[in-house]
Amino acid sequence: MSRKKPWGGRFRAETDPEVVRFSASVHFDRALARHDIRGSIAHARMLARAGLLSEEEVSALVRGLEELGRELEAGTLPLDPELEDIHMNLEARLRERVGPVAGRLHTGRSRNDQVATDLLLYLRDACLAARRGIQVLRGVLLERAGEHVETILPGYTHLQRAQPVRLAHHWLAYVAMFGRDASRFRDLGARLREECPLGSGALAGSTLPLDRHRTARDLGFQRPSRNSMDAVASRDLALEFLASCAICLAQLSRLAEELVLWSSAEFGFVELADAYATGSSLMPQKKNPDVPELVRGKSGRAVGNLVALLTVVKGLPLTYNRDLQEDKEPVFDSAGTLRDSLSVTAGALATLRLRPERMRAAAEDPMLLATDLAEVLVREGVPFREAHQAVGRVVAHCLEKSADLRSLTREELRRFHPSFPAPAGELLDLERSIESRALPGGPARARVEESLAAFREELEREEESLAAEEGGGVGGTEA
Ligand code: ARG
Repeated sequence: MSRKKPWGGRFRAETDPEVVRFSASVHFDRALARHDIRGSIAHARMLARAGLLSEEEVSALVRGLEELGRELEAGTLPLDPELEDIHMNLEARLRERVGPVAGRLHTGRSRNDQVATDLLLYLRDACLAARRGIQVLRGVLLERAGEHVETILPGYTHLQRAQPVRLAHHWLAYVAMFGRDASRFRDLGARLREECPLGSGALAGSTLPLDRHRTARDLGFQRPSRNSMDAVASRDLALEFLASCAICLAQLSRLAEELVLWSSAEFGFVELADAYATGSSLMPQKKNPDVPELVRGKSGRAVGNLVALLTVVKGLPLTYNRDLQEDKEPVFDSAGTLRDSLSVTAGALATLRLRPERMRAAAEDPMLLATDLAEVLVREGVPFREAHQAVGRVVAHCLEKSADLRSLTREELRRFHPSFPAPAGELLDLERSIESRALPGGPARARVEESLAAFREELEREEESLAAEEGGGVGGTEA
């Protein structure tokens, strides 16, 4: 009924019931309720300071809003889809609790600046949760890496065995990758504290003497937004969040893909714990890697969510258009998908059974040392291209004769190039090969130990900054 709607005044007929259903968003934007209440409390207090509400009015409103917060916590807050969205539901409930004074709360405010503010507060929490999830996963990866400095396996390019590395080195690659994800969410977290949309009204601010600096400060922003049209029309920070989620999930998906591959009989490098695997309803012998498969599969949603909102935004004239209501489900879905995927991946890795002997056996493939042999020639003064050709011919010879690269005598080697200084057996050794890759960032033991220490320190710093921000309450930085 249009009577029920705050905007019903200029309407004569009721909204078509199908339109009511079509445009309702409260079944998902209820996720903004906490942030909406917080924003309303800040707005009401500011109205009183500005002389637009009396002391009794503001205390009634704040008390009522706090009661709504308790109802929300208790799960007893009634939500009515006929009231469209969470903003109108909360206002209607407030009226039930405190009476007509509720009608003063929306003074100098539009749902446009209200929802833009709510979303930024929500995104702050979501960034913090993402950083926490990443921190837990990096902690597990780091711990497992520390246990496997001595575990050697092939590193791959093109999924072909390339050169031997330490398992610690392989996992520290992910620690580095997820570290950049965390820093993306940290950077975004700072941007989410810059400009407060509240006070931008529908698009052109207000004639009322609102104190925008006060609400901005109260809600943990640096300043009010500098342009009221930008403030209600823009969703780039939501896009940035979706992009950061998509990137992080794409990286999680690569790790998941490796868990799937490595747990196959063909690799046999790892076995998922029973708690992180599933069986087949038909084949009794199966143990399936559904958990990493779902992480890999769900990463597609994050990509889709980013593309969905980019598509919504790209054709919109300034300022607010109702299309923007479509920003929320992608954001909520990506936040939830990322949270769950980080958490199950951390669990799967923490409980993963490793088969170092299978990794080692694969790394014993002597062909992994072919590059080392070429570099022996380079050290003898041979140009690298010439050395590469010569060793290529040595490799072809070994493949043809099914010979072990390491078994070639000096004389045999010299048939391919006169500069080989010793028999292959003396030149090639798995451990020595890894140890001689001692450049910064390389797989040699000392370098890996250094990175372990550096990453541990980085995680400690992130832990301190996370703990401080998590103490900050809803949306951080409680005034
Ligand atoms: N539910 C709406 C949204 O999420 C709130 C803003 C509504 N504004 C409007 N002018 N209809 O975008």
